[in-house]
Amino acid sequence: MRARWLVVAGLCLACGPAPVALTPDDASHPGDAWFGHRAQSLGISAAAARTRDGLLPAGPEAGPPALDELAAREGAALWRDLCARCHGVDGEPPPVPEGQIEPKAWGGMGPAMGFTFGGDKMRRGIYRSIAEGKGAAMPAWGTRLAREQIWALVRHIEAL
Ligand code: HEC
Repeated sequence: MRARWLVVAGLCLACGPAPVALTPDDASHPGDAWFGHRAQSLGISAAAARTRDGLLPAGPEAGPPALDELAAREGAALWRDLCARCHGVDGEPPPVPEGQIEPKAWGGMGPAMGFTFGGDKMRRGIYRSIAEGKGAAMPAWGTRLAREQIWALVRHIEAL
């Protein structure tokens, strides 16, 4: 009986998004660079890409939207370039100086269970932490990243 439960849990945990493997050439596009990059991929203008982004859900009320491969790669590249120095490339934070807040670890059984049972509510909460920041140590990224990029980061965190 117990063994069967473990098999079921194992199957659920395998349902998350697949991690994206980046090549050294993969760049991230913080700031306005994203709209040009996104526009090129869709064959639209940068202004249209910005409008499109503004129509995506911003959390915490709704989302996540469906994301394509380009967004998944962007999320992985942003994580590497903007987040890994504090959170660790693999989600295991490097040690922080005495007295500073250490981010919690991502990846592994605990967070995977959180995504399995928390679902979109959990994803929206993560979106909010990224967009608005958290406490004194976690910067707010909402004005520096597009909505699609923040959702891509949520997806990347889930895939760690
Ligand atoms: C300067 C270091 C630093 C950087 C850079 C940073 N974070 Fe954080 N982050 C933290 C710390 C510290 C916390 C824990 C804050 C707390 O619990 O008070 C945190 C918390 C979080 C949380 C909330 C986790 C929870 O408890 O719900 C998320 C999500 C998050 N960070 C995502 C990101 C993403 C995505 C990036 C990159 C775009 C990023 N962080 C960049 C330091 C950082």
